[in-house]
Amino acid sequence: MSKQPTTRLALALALSLSTGAVLAKTPSAAIPPAEYESHIQQAMSDSKTLATTAHAGKRAAFLCLYCHGEDGNSVQENIPNLSGQNPVYLLTQIEKFGDGRRNDEFMSGLIKALKSEDRINMAVYYSTMRPNTPISKDAALVAKGKQRYQATCIGCHGPKGHGNNTIARLAGQRISYITEALGKYRSSKSPRTDPVMTTVARSLSHSDIPAIAAYLSTLK
Ligand code: HEC
Ligand code: HEC
Repeated sequence: MSKQPTTRLALALALSLSTGAVLAKTPSAAIPPAEYESHIQQAMSDSKTLATTAHAGKRAAFLCLYCHGEDGNSVQENIPNLSGQNPVYLLTQIEKFGDGRRNDEFMSGLIKALKSEDRINMAVYYSTMRPNTPISKDAALVAKGKQRYQATCIGCHGPKGHGNNTIARLAGQRISYITEALGKYRSSKSPRTDPVMTTVARSLSHSDIPAIAAYLSTLK
């Protein structure tokens, strides 16, 4: 085991203690799932509103940059890029960490302390940034991954891996995070489950996963 997880946890704790001033004393009530899309649409309704939202999101996102990078391009293995991700999907995952539908030792506590407005602003900010991830140079692996992706994943995640409001963007995602996420869906002990993805991930062979992850890193 590397020392990294302990360091990360210590940092997350230090952040949440030292930044009490920006965090809500009493977190606002969760946003009802039926309203995720309308909140995001409102926050991006015209170019001026979008610029204001993204600016506020960038300011609030200083809490996140140690792990997700300043522009949402993750700076650590196993941590997802948030850049270019669909904003409604981002808000949904933030809300899931906030109410316990998704759990992670680093994310859950931090998110619980954020106000609804910051959650929306951050989701919009990251969605406007561009993924810039290291891409696989193993042409044979990428070709195998392309074939497996097109056979199994394309119907939901789309021909370019861009996803939609409820389905994650996978294009340009970190190889180590895709591998880890699929491993979590496959495992019966993981806190991350999704009826569809659990079934899909369990249908993959061990050699499919690195191939698909390599292919996804090459998509723009
Ligand atoms: C200490 C490191 C750390 C910090 C700080 C951190 N995150 Fe994360 N984040 C993670 C990890 C690790 C995951 C993957 C968790 C999992 O596998 O379920 C994650 C996942 C996410 C996801 C889900 C992405 C996806 O593709 O499903 C979102 C959204 C997110 N973080 C937003 C934030 C926001 C907003 C902040 C700042 C308020 C933040 N994170 C701060 C480590 C961190
Ligand atoms: C029937 C639709 C469907 C199919 C087919 C599908 N997915 Fe998904 N995928 C989803 C949904 C919905 C989510 C979001 C689930 C959640 O909230 O945890 C998701 C999430 C994911 C995630 C997590 C992304 C993140 O940012 O955390 C990965 C990785 C993923 N899918 C990979 C794949 C791969 C690889 C395939 C093909 C082998 C595939 N999916 C096929 C619907 C699908």
